[in-house]
Amino acid sequence: MKKDFAILGIESTCDETSAALLKGGREIVTNVIYSQIEEHKKYHGVVPELASRAHAAKIAAVIDEALQNHPIDCVAFASGPGLPGGLMVGRVAAETLANFKNVPILGVNHLEGHIFACDFEGTQVKGRLRFPLVALVVSGGHTELWYVRNYGDYKVLGRTRDDAAGEAFDKVAKLLGLPYPGGPQVSKQALNGRRDAIDFPRPLLPGTWEFSFSGIKTAVSYYLRDHRDFNIADVCASFEQAMVDTLVTKTLKAAEKYRVKHIAVGGGVAANALLRAQMQAQAAKRGLETHFVERGLSSDNAAMIALAAYKKLEYAEKTGRKLAAHINIDPNWKVCNWRSKE
Ligand code: KG4
Ligand code: ZN
Repeated sequence: MKKDFAILGIESTCDETSAALLKGGREIVTNVIYSQIEEHKKYHGVVPELASRAHAAKIAAVIDEALQNHPIDCVAFASGPGLPGGLMVGRVAAETLANFKNVPILGVNHLEGHIFACDFEGTQVKGRLRFPLVALVVSGGHTELWYVRNYGDYKVLGRTRDDAAGEAFDKVAKLLGLPYPGGPQVSKQALNGRRDAIDFPRPLLPGTWEFSFSGIKTAVSYYLRDHRDFNIADVCASFEQAMVDTLVTKTLKAAEKYRVKHIAVGGGVAANALLRAQMQAQAAKRGLETHFVERGLSSDNAAMIALAAYKKLEYAEKTGRKLAAHINIDPNWKVCNWRSKE
């Protein structure tokens, strides 16, 4: 691929409208993110219809700002998983731009983007990921544990059976009357609380790599019902500890079972300070290295989409293989392998 191969990435799967320009697969030139938080705040969660409208209203301006008249060689967009309305807006924008610029278009998996984002250091791609690794994707819509042999070569070990980790944070925040998005709010309250004040469950689901967080959320709601004079900081600290214990324990178990030396953690919840500290400390004790996505790139952004596209194109060029373009949106797209077994 030519040295300054430029990809314009588009992200619109949930409640961020984003466009980014990635040059040479190694430098983020622009990464414009319009967050819809204000639109959804009063409903304590993402309202799909409002999200679609906000994407449609903002996407042209966001792309324009990211593009800044740079020449581009490809347009990439997240074609799933995500909310159908937002995905359609991303697809139409990507197709229009690709036709106008006469360049190819490529759809990529949003969750792959979250893991590939661990490769960024500031605006540079440092290629920090070392394979094989165990990856934990923790966001508002997804919680998944993968065994990753390489970019594009995955075995999905488990997903959540019910709420995603970020969703659990958001729902507990709502129960406590804290604003959306709940994760950062709960974390902030937790700083002044005791982590062992309340013994919320750690749903480990032995024998599976799946997660289930709705039980912790229900336990919090029962606790609040039964303790009218509850201490909000203690509730937040104990809840956060239960979530982090569950995520760390299962991830480390998977790393042990699959004999990897590296762990990657991506997605909005990867910004959580307790998760970062405890995963890192406990992994280090076992001689494992942890690669968390940097905080500024943990939530939804188009730079990670452009990077995922670059990795695919680079592989296709090196091997001469033709990869599927994934232009049709797929709201439930399960990550799939695009690297052939050598
Ligand atoms: O990846 P993301 O931006 O969007 C999805 O793809 O879903 O993740 C957003 C989620 C929200 O649920 C938000 O509450 C959560 O990430 N989150 C956090 C923190 N920061 C964001 N959860 C826990 N602790 C945080 N510091
Ligand atoms: Zn996401």
